[in-house]
Amino acid sequence: MVVTIVASLPSFLLASSVSHASSTSSLFFTRLRSSAGFRLSFAVAPLCSRRAKFMAHSIASANLGLTQPANVEHPKIAFAAKEVDVGEWKGDMLAVGVTEKDMTKDENSKFENSILKKIDGLLGGLLAEASSEEDFTGKSGQSTVLRLPGLGSKRVGLIGLGQPASSPAAFRGLGESVAAAAKTAQANSVAVVLASSEGLSNESKLGIASAIASGTVLGIHEDNRYKSESESKSKKPQLKSVDILGLGTGPELEKKLKYAEDVSSAVVFGRELVNSPANVLTPAALAAEASKIASSYSDVLSANILTAEQCKELKMGSYLGVAAASDNPPYFIHLCYKPPSGPIKAKLALVGKGLTFDSGGYNIKTGPGCSIDVMKIDMGGSAAVLGAAKALGQIKPPGVEVHFIVASCENMISGTGMRPGDILTASNGKTIEVNNTDAEGRLTLADALVYACNQGVDKIVDLATLTGACIVALGPSIAGVFTPSDELAKEVFEASEISGEKFWRMPLEESYWETMKSGVADMVNTGGRQGGAITAALFLKQFVDEKVQWMHIDLAGPVWNEKKRVATGFGVSTLVEWVLKNSS
Ligand code: BES
Ligand code: MN
Ligand code: ZN
Repeated sequence: MVVTIVASLPSFLLASSVSHASSTSSLFFTRLRSSAGFRLSFAVAPLCSRRAKFMAHSIASANLGLTQPANVEHPKIAFAAKEVDVGEWKGDMLAVGVTEKDMTKDENSKFENSILKKIDGLLGGLLAEASSEEDFTGKSGQSTVLRLPGLGSKRVGLIGLGQPASSPAAFRGLGESVAAAAKTAQANSVAVVLASSEGLSNESKLGIASAIASGTVLGIHEDNRYKSESESKSKKPQLKSVDILGLGTGPELEKKLKYAEDVSSAVVFGRELVNSPANVLTPAALAAEASKIASSYSDVLSANILTAEQCKELKMGSYLGVAAASDNPPYFIHLCYKPPSGPIKAKLALVGKGLTFDSGGYNIKTGPGCSIDVMKIDMGGSAAVLGAAKALGQIKPPGVEVHFIVASCENMISGTGMRPGDILTASNGKTIEVNNTDAEGRLTLADALVYACNQGVDKIVDLATLTGACIVALGPSIAGVFTPSDELAKEVFEASEISGEKFWRMPLEESYWETMKSGVADMVNTGGRQGGAITAALFLKQFVDEKVQWMHIDLAGPVWNEKKRVATGFGVSTLVEWVLKNSS
């Protein structure tokens, strides 16, 4: 019997306890909790015994470890652009962005820069004295917070920007440093000002203000949902308001700040999806999160969640082959964004790899460096895609239709799972000999890409934590970009200039396809060790219509911050910028 998910409901599905189930009507409603902790309802058709057992099992296993993420409200920081004199501003901390040049002093050891000179004057020369004692020279990454009497502000923070004419990334860094300083000082209210802002165009002031705002939101965010109360409460960030001084005021700037907040909260959402462990964030829970986004922005977003049964009807043998070993059923997620009004000029698809866990399958991940313990991150591509959906639901750009597609499942091991050597048939009819069950992402993406092409889109960008080889090639913080289209490459690279995320274009070397030939099927799913990120991209290309512009992004490295052991939210902001570029 089929489990019918009613996508128009506020949201759907599972993760934990069934608190109400009635079998007296032909449809019964089950109340469950989403991974974010909200109570949700969804309708299911009556279950016959085998399926019922299966469902019961999947609900039980979704509650493995009895972990429930805390339902935290992210305290909103109020950003405002003001023209207030630095001497007049009242609050907990005045943060000044300072370049090395701003720190130059005259022959009397006085600041030449007018803002620093003014603050120093109000403090009777203490700023100059303290900053030189602290060896603050304005280098990027330096910051110092001084508790000084004499100003409306309790503290003055100096934050190094390095060289003048800084990039959006530098101002995002300024925001992150402001957040760090505010956390340490437990500050409620902060003002940010640049020591030098004269001569900046209106356009760049807008960009700087929004970069500071996003940096602050992302710097303040810490994911405490899986920490017990006592652990997470001790030093909660207190920051409530940030005034941005000296970069202008007015509706244009406010709109830009609102946009920065929308995108940053979507990045936070993406991070939290990736941070969630696989015992909580099952494919069903990921689908529930997707449905929740669609119902929160139901004026522009709709959701269609397909069950395994429905995917079978669509002949998605490649995707279902990967899903076959898991007791947690797969869900194929499709959200569609349509603008509130007006004509549509571009149809886009964002496709994300959504492996909620990747054990490797029969080719199990073993040995040092295999990273099996972080393989919850293998849905990082889908987190970027759903994060983008959330931001776009909020921003509502005109003139563009966007499909968000995730073939979500788990790569596990069991008697029902695919074996090395099995041959799968994808939904475009192509056959694949699985010579390595750990190259599963491309198998799920194959059917997702075919599905995306069937939506009649002009352009597809897929994002996937696809290969360790890409991390070897580009290191942990740069994503690999593969596309036959120079035009699409240009668009996405322009978007990344604004977002500050790092990408590097890699070749789609057709001669390497040689290594992907099978004796019995149309192709194998892995070539040799050499050029592993390239052969993976060539595999995906087999499932994309030639008429469609396509890009593959391998974000296996930048999705995760190994030092802090948390997710980065990589991809969300670049995707949103790219969609806006395609809007009218
Ligand atoms: N999910 C992994 C890739 C990965 C590795 C992501 C490390 C993040 C961190 C992917 O499914 C995988 O296992 N790829 C294999 C491919 C190989 C079998 C051809 C790999 O990279 O080893
Ligand atoms: Mn794998
Ligand atoms: Zn994987």
